[in-house]
Amino acid sequence: MNKKISSKKPLRGIAFVPGDKSISHRALMFGAIAQGDTRIQNLSGGRDVLSTKRCLEQLGVQFTLSKEEVIVHGGGRNSFVSPIAMLDCQNSGTSMRLLMAMITGQNIEATLTGDESLLKRPMKRIAEPLKRMGAEIQLSQNEFAPVKILKSVKLQAIDYELMIASAQLKSALILAALYAEGVTTLTGKIQSRDHTERMLKDFGVRLLSSQTKIKIESGQNLSATSIQVPGDPSSAAFWLAAGTLVANSEVEIQNVSLNPTRTGFLKVLKRMGADIETFETDSRNEPIGHMRVRSSQLKAVEILESEVASMIDEIPMLAVLATQAEGTTIIRGARELRVKESDRIDSVAFNLRRMGARLETFQDGFAIEGPQTLKGAQIDSALDHRIAMSFSIAALVAEGESEICDVDSVGISYPEFYSVLAKLQGTSL
Ligand code: S3P
Repeated sequence: MNKKISSKKPLRGIAFVPGDKSISHRALMFGAIAQGDTRIQNLSGGRDVLSTKRCLEQLGVQFTLSKEEVIVHGGGRNSFVSPIAMLDCQNSGTSMRLLMAMITGQNIEATLTGDESLLKRPMKRIAEPLKRMGAEIQLSQNEFAPVKILKSVKLQAIDYELMIASAQLKSALILAALYAEGVTTLTGKIQSRDHTERMLKDFGVRLLSSQTKIKIESGQNLSATSIQVPGDPSSAAFWLAAGTLVANSEVEIQNVSLNPTRTGFLKVLKRMGADIETFETDSRNEPIGHMRVRSSQLKAVEILESEVASMIDEIPMLAVLATQAEGTTIIRGARELRVKESDRIDSVAFNLRRMGARLETFQDGFAIEGPQTLKGAQIDSALDHRIAMSFSIAALVAEGESEICDVDSVGISYPEFYSVLAKLQGTSL
């Protein structure tokens, strides 16, 4: 389905955002290997999280669903059964990468596959350290899914230095460490989102984590818990951007995660001069709060490599904002964008140029001048949910009408995106 967007109507009101995608995946997965029933409220209804749930079902995990919550009937650390069919993670990198570790640890056989996008994403980064721990894994062309996991000998702990700031890699290794003999130590680029570290503590796992090191002892059992999933800050980012760009807007977003490993975009927007207030309402395991944004003028900003991990999924939206900010915005150190659901540096550049914008791309980022007038255009969303949503917001401030192609992808993380947009504009879909 394509979507035509032209309106410059102000956005006003409260924007619903779904439960955080990263936290939702982990709640299902950790609940599955915990002992007892884990109750999850506000689980994301996006397709990626459903992929995790479906794969877990194939691994023998049972769930009870009601309107208020999802209950995971955890069978303990070694309760997975070898699935009969391939596990299809569809578009979800988090499902594939974390499940690779959990399956390897349980010494069962399984093959994981995915859609056209996931089949192009790098999996060696996970398979290589798992193999060093003793896992037997076969990749297609030594890099890609389908990932075939064979029964391995008992995993052995490792000391591993992360060379990529990836929470999926870090989480996979923490999970594998729970099954490995000895104490695993992770160092290097461990400053990515820390939901795994925080949530495992809720499940009773002892884990030592500092700025420079994570240490996990093997053989620990998880005990079931209750999880209230906060709103997804990566979904909230679209309304922070739209509320800033579209004149006379005022939008509030409630109960969003304010975890500091996820608030990079919020901080950068404030640095650009955006009018955003945040109110922390709960600071238990995951800090949560409300955000309010009003429209304002922006100035350019320089993004440092050290900030990239805390805003990695929001960089396409930031690139759009940069076209409306006074000065030249420079984003470097974001090479990982090239291996997301699409090559997000190319997807952003291609579509911004279609809208008439000038920009320079690098292997690891962009230089974008502003302010520039965007012109309505046909947008190739590259079947990438975050590209479809970022350019839907760009279309709100462009001259004339835009057509966003293949918007079904928004259901990966934010099925309600277009109905929330219509509500904020005071229109119906
Ligand atoms: C995620 C981590 C990030 C992010 C992805 C979700 C996670 O990927 O882009 O959308 O849930 O751990 P990387 O860890 O590969 O950077």
